[in-house]
Amino acid sequence: MSIHTAAHSAPQAEPGPPAPHPGARPAAVATLARCRDMVEPALRTAVRELHPGPRRIASHAFGWCEADGTPRAGGGGKGVRQALVILGAEAAGAPAEVAVPGAVAIELIHTFSLVHDDIMDGDGRRRHRDSAWKAFGTGPALLAGDALFALGVRTLAEVGGARGGEALGHLTSMLGELVHGQADDELFESRPWTGEDAVGLGEYRAMAERKTGALLGCAAALGPVLAGAPPRLTDALARAGRQWGLAFQAVDDVLGIWGEPVRTGKPAHSDLRRAKKTLPILGAIAADPSLGARLDQLLGAGGVSDAACLRRAAELVEKAGGRAYALREARARVAAGRDHLRTAALGGTPADALVALSELLLDRQL
Ligand code: IPE
Ligand code: IPE
Ligand code: MG
Ligand code: MG
Repeated sequence: MSIHTAAHSAPQAEPGPPAPHPGARPAAVATLARCRDMVEPALRTAVRELHPGPRRIASHAFGWCEADGTPRAGGGGKGVRQALVILGAEAAGAPAEVAVPGAVAIELIHTFSLVHDDIMDGDGRRRHRDSAWKAFGTGPALLAGDALFALGVRTLAEVGGARGGEALGHLTSMLGELVHGQADDELFESRPWTGEDAVGLGEYRAMAERKTGALLGCAAALGPVLAGAPPRLTDALARAGRQWGLAFQAVDDVLGIWGEPVRTGKPAHSDLRRAKKTLPILGAIAADPSLGARLDQLLGAGGVSDAACLRRAAELVEKAGGRAYALREARARVAAGRDHLRTAALGGTPADALVALSELLLDRQL
């Protein structure tokens, strides 16, 4: 699916649909745990194949050990993407097992992208612990990311056959988009908040769809592909996953300004420090164009570290309605994803589980 089609047909940040229904959260949390139990043994087996150096860093990133190699229980990521792969196969009427290699590949690639992202963003915390470059050094972390990337591609390549080949096609085109989106995200840091070089909302949405939407769209598509589902169904899930990825990124952008470090595992104001062009700020500037010049003074292009300036910038964005704007857009995108499932007449328990999972993205307390 063309990124432009999806980004430009996207819902605008107008009054969104209602907030998630109350029963969604426990059901989605249980789904994440069920999918984790299904995928983690195969993920651990795959990671065991790595050279001991990258293997230690990967195991740390997955929350399986401390930096010195001591095993530890718990931690790691939420597992949203692996759950999308599994639920996608179930929505296509297949047993979840057919999707496990896809789920493993997606979590490997996702973790590669986080390890490299933290180097690019200079973020020293991830998943409530030191990020890979902070704990092991930039060179080893880069290589561990490469190792995860290669292992992810190989895991899916080993499926073989027509379905494996098609899945690999989805994965490789997603990888191109992800890199493109990350490149834009980084370039946007040095662009101003105002004037003709300022980053527009359309550019932001195309960037976010590439850096995050593509991976969630691919995750949602892999299950039906590996299950041999008709293209109509794969396409609906891919489109839904992209919308959920955009919702997820909008919420992540809110957390990048107002998130509490104890909850996010990241420092306060992390996106403001680097002058990241995120949705709450661009939405606030669209509502009040005079804010752009004020932010250029407070943050400059490239960001600042002065706590008072960061606090002031966050207050101004909030006052201009930036936080509410981003959350409205997130809700609208969750609803747009659900509509893609409905249009494809996807119903029943797996579709309900997908919808509940997408609603959990709005309420990130995990
Ligand atoms: C973080 O994704 C990267 C973004 C796209 C915002 P998650 O918040 O899903 O990462 P983990 O896997 O749960 O740590
Ligand atoms: C999300 O990057 C997309 C990728 C990692 C590819 P961000 O930089 O927005 O995400 P966080 O906030 O560090 O998790
Ligand atoms: Mg980052
Ligand atoms: Mg980033």
